[in-house]
Amino acid sequence: MSKIIVAIDGYSSCGKSTLARALASRLSYAYIDSGAMYRCVTLYALQNGMIKDKVFLNEEIISILPDVHVSFKFNTHTKTSDTYLNDVNVERQIRTLEVAEIVSKVSIVKEVRTHLVALQRKMGKGKGIVMDGRDIGTNVFPHAELKIFMTADMDVRIDRRLDELNSKGMHVNREDVKRNLMERDHDDTHRKENPLMKAQDAVTLDNSDLSKDEQLEFVVKLISDLTLTKDTF
Ligand code: DC
Repeated sequence: MSKIIVAIDGYSSCGKSTLARALASRLSYAYIDSGAMYRCVTLYALQNGMIKDKVFLNEEIISILPDVHVSFKFNTHTKTSDTYLNDVNVERQIRTLEVAEIVSKVSIVKEVRTHLVALQRKMGKGKGIVMDGRDIGTNVFPHAELKIFMTADMDVRIDRRLDELNSKGMHVNREDVKRNLMERDHDDTHRKENPLMKAQDAVTLDNSDLSKDEQLEFVVKLISDLTLTKDTF
């Protein structure tokens, strides 16, 4: 079967990256976490004093874009890919609440999006990738062969984010996580440039009551159905 592009979009902490990683591993595809790219720009700006008290100038952020080099390398220990910013492993640093509190504001900046979307399209040139984010099926790869739109109940999402942070030794308050998720939902769905929305041809996956394995099998089945119905493979 020829390689395809799988685009996975959805709200924060819906389990997009967990599913995308598992699917990429099953298909022997590359996994690209587009949110990590927005987080890297945010981290770099924070490290260089361009964001203070959640305030930043768009021009300053735009000026550093050529200096932000993001790559993904497979970690044989954790069996998943880690995010590197200018060749430094920042997988942990980009997941902090400090970055999460500001990343959706940074991702509103048009030039940031244009820059990162161009890189994402380059990564998908040879197909054989699973990419997750907010605008992958609507904007980055509007012709992706398979688009999934993920959603889950807010309480389930809060629990997932708390588990993720706890597993990394970051202990945060449930109310802070809830507020952050609600703010990001609002920012992601209301921004002018490529807001989060379901692509017309995306399949909705509400995984509130589904195990990781059930979600994976659901998508694997969609892919095998595609191979039977489309002649593009
Ligand atoms: O998936 P994530 O939570 O790591 O994403 C972090 C932020 O990046 C999210 O709040 C919105 C932004 N983002 C985006 O605007 N477009 C994408 N394709 C991916 C993420």
